[in-house]
Amino acid sequence: MAALDLIGSSAKFRALLDNIDMVASVDSAVLIQGETGTGKEVIARAIHEASPRRKNRLVALNCAAIPSTLLESELFGYEKGAFTGAVAQTVGRFQAADRGTLFLDEIGDLPLELQPKLLRALQEKQFERLGGGDTLHVDVRVVAATNQDLGRMVQERKFRADLYYRLNVFPMTLPPLRERRDDIPLLAEHFLQKFAKQQGKVIGTIPDEVMAALEHHDWPGNIRELQNAIERGVIMTTGPFLSRQTTEHLPRGEAAPVCVPASADPASIKTLADAERAHISATLRETNWVIGGPHGAAAQLGLPRTTLIAKMQRLGIFSETSRIRRWSAAPCA
Ligand SMILES: Nc1ncnc2c1ncn2[C@@H]1O[C@H](COP(=O)(O)OP(=O)(O)OP(=O)(O)O)[C@@H](O)[C@H]1O
Ligand SMILES: [Mg+2]
Repeated sequence: MAALDLIGSSAKFRALLDNIDMVASVDSAVLIQGETGTGKEVIARAIHEASPRRKNRLVALNCAAIPSTLLESELFGYEKGAFTGAVAQTVGRFQAADRGTLFLDEIGDLPLELQPKLLRALQEKQFERLGGGDTLHVDVRVVAATNQDLGRMVQERKFRADLYYRLNVFPMTLPPLRERRDDIPLLAEHFLQKFAKQQGKVIGTIPDEVMAALEHHDWPGNIRELQNAIERGVIMTTGPFLSRQTTEHLPRGEAAPVCVPASADPASIKTLADAERAHISATLRETNWVIGGPHGAAAQLGLPRTTLIAKMQRLGIFSETSRIRRWSAAPCA
């Protein structure tokens, strides 16, 4: 896994790694679904690398990137003279992946008319090249990926049910980054070091408020968007701390910021969030708004520093003097 730079430690990510280990050793088809940028391709590669097939090739084909008229010859190859311009016999991706793994990316874009031929190749492990009479036999493990809802496409008759069930033997759904925020600090640090090294810089730290903004953002483009944000941030950084400009363009959180009163009025505590806000605020006042370190509020509350900062932002907790106030748009009365 390390060679593939698969970063994460959240429960959801660890469950994903367990699934990779479980499915890698068998030849069953895997269908990876998830929003854009959630890591479908890296997970497909991880399955191949963890499988006995790693001695052979992983051949990838992006069904959305190739014109539908060429997909069939790309998949299955063609004989010389099969069509105008077919000057020599050509091996398709299926044959190239023999004894290895075929990664069919963006499988939702596979044209309906090609789906029966793919189904036959998967089920019977045999196919013919375009313009050829010989039946070729291959031993290919297929991993497919899509960011479309393939189940819904089947209901809408945009994708064949038989092929869907053939591919969906072992489904893996990758959670969006906003559902595993615990992974954001690790990923951010990883990308920071990666891009700092690439750009010949030495950047030691991500400032608290930058990290909190990273953790709070919803990341619709998921890990790819986070990676790009850190790369841009590293470009803008001149000193040892990741530039605050890294997160300045990110939309602010939706929680209405509230100014923490000197002490919470018990009558104002109605919801669980009110109680959490009051308890965190009281602890912060005790520590004189020191968040990190052995005597800081995070340690007292038994939370990682970054989790506490994210909670503070979500609950709208900030002090007049705290630098955390930088996130908030509303003035403190
Ligand atoms: N767990 C991870 N650790 C480190 N980097 C990751 C991880 N998951 C994804 N990435 C990085 O995030 C980027 C997006 O990953 P990937 O291309 O696999 O996503 P995808 O789901 O296939 O996206 P799309 O649907 O847009 O094709 C890549 O640069 C990849 O290296
Ligand atoms: Mg992809």
